Amino acid sequence: MKDTGQLVIKNIGMLATPQGATCLRGKEQGKIKILENAFIAVSQGKITAIGKDEELKDFLINDDTVVIDAKGCLATPGLVDPHTHLVFGGWRQKELSLKLKGAGYLDILSMGGGILSTVEHTRKASFEELVQKGKKSLDIMLSYGTITCEAKSGYGLNVKDEIKSLNVIKELNKLHSVDLVPTFMGAHAIPKEYQGRADDYIKLIKEEMIPRVAKENLAEFCDVFCEDKVFDAEQSRDILETGKRHGLIPKVHADEITPLGGASLAAEVKAISAEHLIHASDKGIDDMAKAGTIAILLPGTSLYLDESFARAKTMIEKGIPVALASDFNPGSCPTESLQLILNLACIKYKMTPEEVLTAATLNAAAAINRSSVVGSLETGKQADILLWDSPDLDFLVYHFGVNLVKTVVKQGKIVVD
Ligand code: NIG
Ligand code: FE
Repeated sequence: MKDTGQLVIKNIGMLATPQGATCLRGKEQGKIKILENAFIAVSQGKITAIGKDEELKDFLINDDTVVIDAKGCLATPGLVDPHTHLVFGGWRQKELSLKLKGAGYLDILSMGGGILSTVEHTRKASFEELVQKGKKSLDIMLSYGTITCEAKSGYGLNVKDEIKSLNVIKELNKLHSVDLVPTFMGAHAIPKEYQGRADDYIKLIKEEMIPRVAKENLAEFCDVFCEDKVFDAEQSRDILETGKRHGLIPKVHADEITPLGGASLAAEVKAISAEHLIHASDKGIDDMAKAGTIAILLPGTSLYLDESFARAKTMIEKGIPVALASDFNPGSCPTESLQLILNLACIKYKMTPEEVLTAATLNAAAAINRSSVVGSLETGKQADILLWDSPDLDFLVYHFGVNLVKTVVKQGKIVVD
């Protein structure tokens, strides 16, 4: 890592960024700032100036300044991935063949596979093994442009292993350049030892897990998989309200596979975001719009589960701020690449390249309470900057399936080049 107290990036062909310290909704989501032939100046990890190349003043460059010649390429804010299941033991490649033979995601889960098989591997894995595995995925994420990332627990499903998973996230946050934002998701599935005793497991979450997570300051958010055969709306509400009383902000895995009213529940409990929303109803969408809930959409999961795609354009028209995320996990979306997600959002959601950029930067940052710090290229914001092997924003969502990131700058330091 090259330490740069002062950094100037010049000769940027196109600088593209949303603007502001909070999420953008409706038509605003597609209004981004475009500056051609631009420079960015950075000092002490923050952006100090942005302008046209011809305005680049000498005083911005001294003997210690590192100067990057962007050679006419595209610059954007670092990508923010607001929904990942980063910490897990093992993978689940065998499930692909089962799916090809016709087994559904929830069928595999009820057969003790799916999330529950990952729980077994996660419980068996040591703290250090999980750290090493998580680090490998974070290296890939960073190389594909993700600089800030939310990470959920949810493959421990007992007090010890949920706490272990959250401590893995804490450790990874210390040792890796990607900034991590932790979410407690003990309500990801009913573990084997509690099958048929969901109420007892919910009691464990409410009375032991949540108080301990809050006391040890291990998470900012509490997420629930509100789904058929997992947690129904009433159980999800109960868990999220308990989380709130302990200072954990609610998030909801809502209407992913079955329309259970998760979107309306997210609005009702004042969740910061509702996520997935593939089968969100008209009422759910209206409720979210009224409550100001951010939609985190995960088109990679629709693709991988061979499901339909969430109604992103309707949500934008109704004034819901839309964010995009990878949902990186071993079952329903085994990819670290948020770049692929940007392309899918364009092709399958029909979002414009501008709406997509806002969704994966500023709105994504707002969905994890970080939009005053990252998510846009503006004076005063953290200098998390991507230079792309791409001349403009259109090319970024057009040339797909390959890695277009050239240089990653995190807090003014070059971390990938
Ligand atoms: O977001 N839906 C629940 N959780 C993940 C899948 C987790 C898994 O299959 O391991 C999701 O799709
Ligand atoms: Fe998820």
